[in-house]
Parts: sequence; structure tokens; C-alpha cells
Amino acid sequence: MEYGEETTEVTCETREGVPLDLKDRALAAAAEGITISDPSLPDNPLIYVNSGFERITGYSAAAVLGKNCRFLQGPDTDPEAAAIIQRAVIEETECTVEILNYRRDGSSFWNRLSITPVRNRHGHVTHFIGVQSDVTARRDAEEALRLANARMRNNLLAAAKVQQAMLPRTGPEAPGWEFAWRYQPCDELAGDTLNCFRLDETRIGLYIIDVSGHGAAAALLSAALSRTLLPLPGQSVLYTPSPTEPSRRTITPPQIVAERLNQQFPFDDRTGQFFTMVYGVLNTETATFNYVSAGHPPLLLLDETGDVREIRRDQFPVGLVSEPHFVSDTIELKAGERLLLYTDGATDAYDEQGRQYETEGLQQAFATGRYETLEAALDGIIESLKQFGGGTTTKDDISLLALGLAEHRA
Ligand SMILES: Cc1cc2nc3c(=O)[nH]c(=O)nc-3n(C[C@H](O)[C@H](O)[C@H](O)COP(=O)(O)O)c2cc1C
Repeated sequence: MEYGEETTEVTCETREGVPLDLKDRALAAAAEGITISDPSLPDNPLIYVNSGFERITGYSAAAVLGKNCRFLQGPDTDPEAAAIIQRAVIEETECTVEILNYRRDGSSFWNRLSITPVRNRHGHVTHFIGVQSDVTARRDAEEALRLANARMRNNLLAAAKVQQAMLPRTGPEAPGWEFAWRYQPCDELAGDTLNCFRLDETRIGLYIIDVSGHGAAAALLSAALSRTLLPLPGQSVLYTPSPTEPSRRTITPPQIVAERLNQQFPFDDRTGQFFTMVYGVLNTETATFNYVSAGHPPLLLLDETGDVREIRRDQFPVGLVSEPHFVSDTIELKAGERLLLYTDGATDAYDEQGRQYETEGLQQAFATGRYETLEAALDGIIESLKQFGGGTTTKDDISLLALGLAEHRA
């Protein structure tokens, strides 16, 4: 290049030093729609649209300049969203709405629209700038998620109903005896289950089970266990055919029930599930409770003086090892005594300082209710757990199953 031949091209610059044509190119290249309207003209028409707007809406600039942008609205546009924009335009403020708009070909899309007034140096609004983003994909994904969540919740609620239906409705009738239970899943579905039923004229079966984990996976196993432990003489593990007379059934001793369950529900490393259980047979004539406790928290025995004793027997949970050799124990209940079986959710509550409710808390609450009916006493325990945890929900299912012998038997 010769001296004197330098180009004399002048590039206009904005106040910030950005070349104006760069701004134009940037606006044109933006993926979002960018629109400018002029409120000094009748009906605030569009005076600029970029190619992003053309791409999103399918309308050419030539077709829309001079029109108010409401032409994008259609039959299913929410009038409330349009009213928000109208207010913002009248009040000359910013607004952002998601509004259903229609493309030139008639198909609809969700438009995330931001409108901002542009002021001159006297503060007067000379234009509005609108930014349009097509957020249909995100809205569709949100809607699909909402529907899937609603479907899952309905399924869970239906399953929870089935699970609740497996609980005993009323306790067995036995003069001088009281039976009561409470059952509180921490999610819709629980891994806990319990039951209390008549086995024969003098004996009543009771069990409480806590499947490892909680929620739907634990609930599936607990439902299978509830079925297996139904007192149906011809089919249940709770009865054993007599060796001499197979049509006659004897009541299976609790430790054998636990061993059979251990065989039927062996540990499966795909699910990692096992369960703790107390299953016992109460003889209402002799007031003896013969039971097996498999990896379960200790039983609590409340005597007539208000003392609560922990009765502990450390054994494997069911389904954890292949030959656990369970042993059973017998408790003789005296008049006025009560026995409480519970799952560890009943001792796992924490207060605001992080202290645990523990067995002591449960023992105290159990003793406190000793002058009340067994039903009211269990309500008292649940209330005390709730108060201890400051009304927060527990992280585990809570189940209580109690029996009591009246002070004066008829
Ligand atoms: C700059 C600008 C861009 C706009 N872009 C859209 C748009 O993309 N989609 C839409 O439904 N409305 C848009 N509007 C809103 C409508 O033009 C109109 O203001 C709104 O429907 C409320 O007024 P109306 O009740 O008189 O229709 C825009 C408005 C302005 C000022």
C-alpha cells in the first residue's frame, strides 16, 4: 500500500465503544427472538424483528412489521398472561411471562417473553424491547414429569391402601385381654407390618416385622410376609400337619416359624433385604407368651407397679444367614401387666439437640399410660414421640403392637 492510500472508512461507535454494525449483527444472530416496538405509533407496533424471531415464529419480518405482536396469541393463550403484559406496557415496567403463542403454520409453542421499556435521557419511554425464547421443550419435559409424578403418587397411594388393608381391623376377642397397635409409615409405603389373630380357642398369634429399608421395595417384602403369615390352617407356616394324622394341624412353635421363614426368604444379594421379627403365641388361659425374637429390638414388659423391663434376646434377623438356629422364650404375664413390641422407628426419633429418644424414652411413655386403656396408652406413645421430635417426621416407619392382661380377670 502506497503512502496516502490508507482507508478512510469510518466505523460508527456506540457510547460504550462497540461498533454499531457489530450490535446489529449480534442482534440478528441471536438465537432468541428480539423485537422492538414503538409506543408512539398507534397500537404500539413492531418496528424491528431479528431473524431469531423469524425462526421461532415462522413469520418473515416483512409480514409482521407495523403490527402489534398480539397476533402471536391464539385460542388457548391464557388471557391472564396477556393481561400481565398489557399492565406492564401501560405502567411502563418490565415483565417476564410464559405465554402460549402460535407460529405461522398454526402450531403452538411456549414463549418465554421478557419486555423492557427503553427510555431516552429524559426518562421517557421511546420503545419497548421484547425477547422471545421458545421454551416448549422444557415445558413439555416439566409436564411429562408432573404427569409421571402424579401417576407414581396415585400408584403409591393405591398400594398404601392395600398395605393398610393387611393390618388387623379389630383385635381378637379374649376376656381379660386387651390388644392394640399403631402403624405409621414414614413414606406412603412401609417396610413394617404387624398382625394379631386367633390361632385356636386358647391361643392368639402376634407378630411385628421390620423389613430392612423402607418405601416400596421394603413394602413388597412386607406384603409377601403378611400373606405368608395369614392364619389359614391348610396353607400357612403357622400350622404344621400332625405326622400321624396329616389332616390335623398343630400350631407351629415360634422358633420353627422363624426358621421356615428364613428358608422361604433367604438373603438375596440382588436386593440385600432381610427382616427383624417378633412372632409369638399367647396362651390366654395360662397367660404365657411364647415367642421368638429375630434381630428385633427388646420387648418391653410393664408391670403393675409401673416398672418397665427390657427383655432382650440377641439373635440373627430372618434371612441374613442360612442356619440361624432360633430359640424361643416364654414370658408369664401377671394380672395388670402389659407387653410392648415395636419396630426401631419408635426409638429412633431425635430432638432439636440431636438427642435420641431411645428405649428409655419409649419405656417412660409406656409407663406413663399405664392407667389408661391400651389404645390410649399407644396414642400417648405416638404423641410423646411426636413432641420429642418437635413435630418433625421420622426417617423410619413406626409400629407398635401391645397386649395387656387386665388386673382383675373375669
Ligand atoms: C416489544 C414487544 C414484544 C411483544 N412480543 C410478544 C410476543 O412475542 N408474544 C405475545 O403473545 N405478545 C407479545 N407482546 C405483547 C402484545 O403485543 C400486547 O402488548 C399484549 O397482548 C397486551 O396487550 P393487549 O391486551 O392489547 O393485546 C409484545 C409486546 C411488546 C411491546
